[in-house]
Amino acid sequence: MNIHILSVVPELLDSPFNHSILRRANERGLLNVTVHNLRKWAINKHNQVDDYQYGGGAGMVIMCEPLVKAIEELQQQTKFDEIIYVTPDGKNFNQQAANQLSLLENVLIICGHYKGIDQRIRDYYVTKEISVGDYVLSGGELAAAIIVDAVGRLIPGVLNDETSALTDSFQDNLLAPPVYTRPENFNGWKIPEILLTGNPKIIEDWRYEQSLERTKQRRPDLLDD
Ligand code: ADE
Repeated sequence: MNIHILSVVPELLDSPFNHSILRRANERGLLNVTVHNLRKWAINKHNQVDDYQYGGGAGMVIMCEPLVKAIEELQQQTKFDEIIYVTPDGKNFNQQAANQLSLLENVLIICGHYKGIDQRIRDYYVTKEISVGDYVLSGGELAAAIIVDAVGRLIPGVLNDETSALTDSFQDNLLAPPVYTRPENFNGWKIPEILLTGNPKIIEDWRYEQSLERTKQRRPDLLDD
């Protein structure tokens, strides 16, 4: 999968894709993330990419021209399956959306900043608008990083144990069960004995019960779906 990201603060994305699982995905040739600095397509020698909004009001808006130039140049090399704009007024991102995106080959993510991007880019180029939660971030970069992380780990071959993504929270609308590791008694805090039975069926049933209980307590809304 190839993910291109357009940003006015590409430095914010220097690190998230260069460690741990996403780094391995890149080394295995399964996930390629390319971050582009929108200022490369600035409208003048002052590196301008934004301007005041029509109608007045505080905050700058990213202009059409640099975005159109950037998108069209990238489109010459890549046919994007989706052009995503990350924005708090987009559709809420969840595991199902991550699953769907992980099936795509080429994706472009546009990060807004300041007041956002000119609406005409959303009207004429953007094919999907995604929010990572009901709160406002300073820009779209961290939202893009969340999406790339959630999607990247779902690409077949990225996780060592293929089944481990399937048992993540949310994969079947249930939260994950509690997990324990050695020692079995830490300062008198003992692990549930059932985990020591060595009986996979009993353990699987217990985990399912725990998942269900956790979901009922913490996220009953998931059970309504
Ligand atoms: N940009 C700023 N806030 C955001 C959010 N919650 N989701 C996606 N992009 C954003």
